[in-house]
Amino acid sequence: MPSRLQPGETYALPQSPQLFKQLLMVAGVERYYQIARCFRDENLRADRQPEFTQLDLELSFGDEEDIYAVMEEMFVELWDEVLGVQLPTPFPRITFEESMRRFGSDKPDLRFAMELADLGEVFADTEVGVFKGVLGDGGSVIGLALPGGGDLTRKQFDTWTEWAKRRGAKGLAWGVVERSDSEHAEGVEAGEGDAPTLRSPLTKFMSDAEVAGVLAETGAAVGDAVFFGAGPTRFARQLMGALRNTLAEDRGLIPADRWEFVWVVEPPMFDPAGESDDPTAANSAGWVPNHHPFTAPAPQFIDDFEQRPGEVTTRAYDIVLNGVELASGSVRIHDADLQRRVFRFLGISDEDAEEKFGFLLRGFRYGVPPHCGIAPGLDRLVMLLCGEDTIREVIAFPKTQSGADPMTDAPAPHDEAALRDVGLRLLPKPVKA
Ligand code: AMO
Ligand code: AMP
Repeated sequence: MPSRLQPGETYALPQSPQLFKQLLMVAGVERYYQIARCFRDENLRADRQPEFTQLDLELSFGDEEDIYAVMEEMFVELWDEVLGVQLPTPFPRITFEESMRRFGSDKPDLRFAMELADLGEVFADTEVGVFKGVLGDGGSVIGLALPGGGDLTRKQFDTWTEWAKRRGAKGLAWGVVERSDSEHAEGVEAGEGDAPTLRSPLTKFMSDAEVAGVLAETGAAVGDAVFFGAGPTRFARQLMGALRNTLAEDRGLIPADRWEFVWVVEPPMFDPAGESDDPTAANSAGWVPNHHPFTAPAPQFIDDFEQRPGEVTTRAYDIVLNGVELASGSVRIHDADLQRRVFRFLGISDEDAEEKFGFLLRGFRYGVPPHCGIAPGLDRLVMLLCGEDTIREVIAFPKTQSGADPMTDAPAPHDEAALRDVGLRLLPKPVKA
């Protein structure tokens, strides 16, 4: 925000109120919570708005278990009060890695099964060209069974393939599980008894053992469809995770009135910049923090996280409900040297760190209690309690997907006089490429 009282200067809110709540812990305030208005300039989605509200909280001398206990108690109370629903506790916990592997997402929707199957071993010696190539390059072939998907038409499969291509995939292979004596199973060798077979454009390249492996790994049965996505592991998992959600929604496979809370824990410390919403935060090696730079690495990585950034996990945790990230938090770094090393690794020089976060680092000199916190997004919470699909439905004056407010016409062209007041001049509008 430009300042009118100090023309030419701006208020910046790096990670506010994150740093303030940490400073309270440094100052000896052991417990904090606040209903905080947050303002963020990020790409919008159905569950994101530039202005939103968090229940922000922090506590000292605690760890993950204290946060889990406080949050679970709160959600149990809320669901009981608001919906008369008794939530079972403890909420299940799953690591980030397991969540990506089984659901292709760090926000797994556990209201339905449909788990992803890694078919790397099944296709280890395959003659299916696309799979062979991808596996040879160190990628993955991921299978996904769609219960009852055997009624999909060729055209519908083509539509799903187009859907995958729009998301950057090279293609999407598919098959339908049939009885081997079925009239549809043309081209299938006779004499296989009642073992199910796969009707697929790729079947002629697959061995019987591969077909059996696909069925065993995906759990697909007669009458189901199987989808195959092959590509770099991270990409293939995310693609098939998105397909899992979209198919389940499209086919009405998501049961109503289920509240599937899950803690997703131990995420990576750093993400490749290309997968971040804020690639500008990347260091020269292309890494950005997965949560924020104040998150404590898991103890086994403290000594040498700089040497193996891609492996490092943190003591962070998210609460996911029905596939929506409801809350996010972490155990914090409470050691000034470690904090400086993390900044340095992220390309934030000691001078920059001092300028941006000096008040926190100075506070750290006086001794810092171990502390941790979390922040549930209240808009998302209300959205889910109300059974809505977007937080725009539960915000009084929401912005559109492009961040505009059609009622007040914001954002509006600048007013010269107002800019002069705050000592700013605009650059010419960038020409759209
Ligand atoms: P984070 O940025 O993950 O963490 O946000 C925490 C929670 O706030 C909600 N939220 C949003 N809701 C609507 N629109 C948005 N643009 C938006 N961005 C975030 C989500 C999310 O889970 N300071 C840390 C928390 C901590 O470490 O204690 C933080 O803000 O529900
Ligand atoms: P092609 O060899 O490109 O004609 O593809 C043969 C079949 O494999 C088509 O059904 C494609 O959609 C599918 N396919 C191609 N690339 C991939 C991929 N990376 N993952 C899954 N299926 C693919």
